[in-house]
Amino acid sequence: MPGTFSVGLLGHGTVGAAFAALLEERAEAIGRVTGLRPRLSGVLTRSRGDFDAILADADLIVEVMGGVEPARNFALRAMRAGKHVVSANKLLLSQHGEELWACAREHGVQLRFEAAVAGVVPVIRVLQESLAAAHVERIHGIVNGTTNYILTEMARGGLSYALALEQAQALGYAEADPTDDVTGRDAAAKMAILARLAFDTPVHLDQVRYEGIEHITADDIAYAHQLGLGLKLIGTAERVDGGLSVRVHPAFLYGGHPLASVNGPFNAVTVESDAITEITMSGPGAGGPQTASAVLGDVISAMIPPATTPETSQELTIVNDVESAFYLHMEVADRPGVLAQVAELLGMQGGSIKSVVQRGLGDNESLVMVLHPLLESRFYAGVQLIAQLDFMRSAPRAIRVIEEEFV
Ligand SMILES: NC(=O)c1ccc[n+]([C@@H]2O[C@H](COP(=O)([O-])OP(=O)(O)OC[C@H]3O[C@@H](n4cnc5c(N)ncnc54)[C@H](OP(=O)(O)O)[C@@H]3O)[C@@H](O)[C@H]2O)c1
Repeated sequence: MPGTFSVGLLGHGTVGAAFAALLEERAEAIGRVTGLRPRLSGVLTRSRGDFDAILADADLIVEVMGGVEPARNFALRAMRAGKHVVSANKLLLSQHGEELWACAREHGVQLRFEAAVAGVVPVIRVLQESLAAAHVERIHGIVNGTTNYILTEMARGGLSYALALEQAQALGYAEADPTDDVTGRDAAAKMAILARLAFDTPVHLDQVRYEGIEHITADDIAYAHQLGLGLKLIGTAERVDGGLSVRVHPAFLYGGHPLASVNGPFNAVTVESDAITEITMSGPGAGGPQTASAVLGDVISAMIPPATTPETSQELTIVNDVESAFYLHMEVADRPGVLAQVAELLGMQGGSIKSVVQRGLGDNESLVMVLHPLLESRFYAGVQLIAQLDFMRSAPRAIRVIEEEFV
């Protein structure tokens, strides 16, 4: 007969309820593998349960409440009491990770958080364990399923942003208040956590620049398609000039990029390093049962041998001005010399055109181009000058392009 392992559960919503059901279903099999049979020893919600009583009775605390407080306070108190903590809370870890990891180290307990980034995709484990010795150069991620679903529908069906968002809400892929998802903040929190692990330096959510998808038009997606490009909300963390850039923004990808074919509510992360070239992991990024499965995986790992998040060994400078290739969409009046003037203004900033499409006639003319990489500050300086040209019929629209392809 295996002994028991008591799990205290904080939160019984989408993830918490699915976790409780999965734990019960898998308890016997886990008992056979680990020698200990896990059982739920207490549940806390806003209306039931007492944290102190749950803590006293638990070997491990699962935090799936969300929000920063009281989740932070409960996690710290649990670890100080010598209990392992498993959390799915990206907002908490991206803002208070260093404090929490230090507490885990100090008290010799585990703090696991696989479900906080990319749901069931085991990217945290891979960075912390399999790639622990790799010198990671860059991470790209589609780490928000809601926005990936919306962009996929805009591309497939030519839907407007507003209609695609409505559809995502009707299908349960987007919350009633989708602000954190569509502004890029949710993805920024996840990229802060990934960057901290991959680059061994403290990264706070406030240091991640992010842009969302609210301003994207179906028109841009359709034009770029003709240039061989597909649009994604991409999180990037990469070494730049001895420092680190961590950012989230919509970006076009060419078809050969491993993230180009990641569609619908799926998540995926690519890790690049000289030694490994490129690894891509993909799978469902959210959902109660899926996330609960990642949480339960962490519980089982905590029942076996330790994995701690080591102290950071360096402090990389956060770099904000990086080189990017750009897609630029301009609605222009039909007259000679338009392309030459635009090219000249971009050229003054060091920009050069890689490909161009000119469409429509008269009042409907659009000039769409992809530029070779240049410093973002110089690109936007050029765009400001272009916006003032008298043949421009509306403000130019710019979206970054990721040029790498691996096939
Ligand atoms: N949903 C997903 O697909 C998903 C995916 C990955 C990660 N996550 C993360 O998992 C966590 C939980 O998400 P969820 O979707 O399961 O949230 P949810 O459905 O809103 O459930 C939250 C649960 O926590 C409880 N709770 C919230 N604040 C509390 C407080 N101050 N005191 C006591 N209980 C409190 C709620 O109690 P009541 O029942 O009384 O309201 C509810 O049971 C979040 O950190 C989220 O980011 C979710």
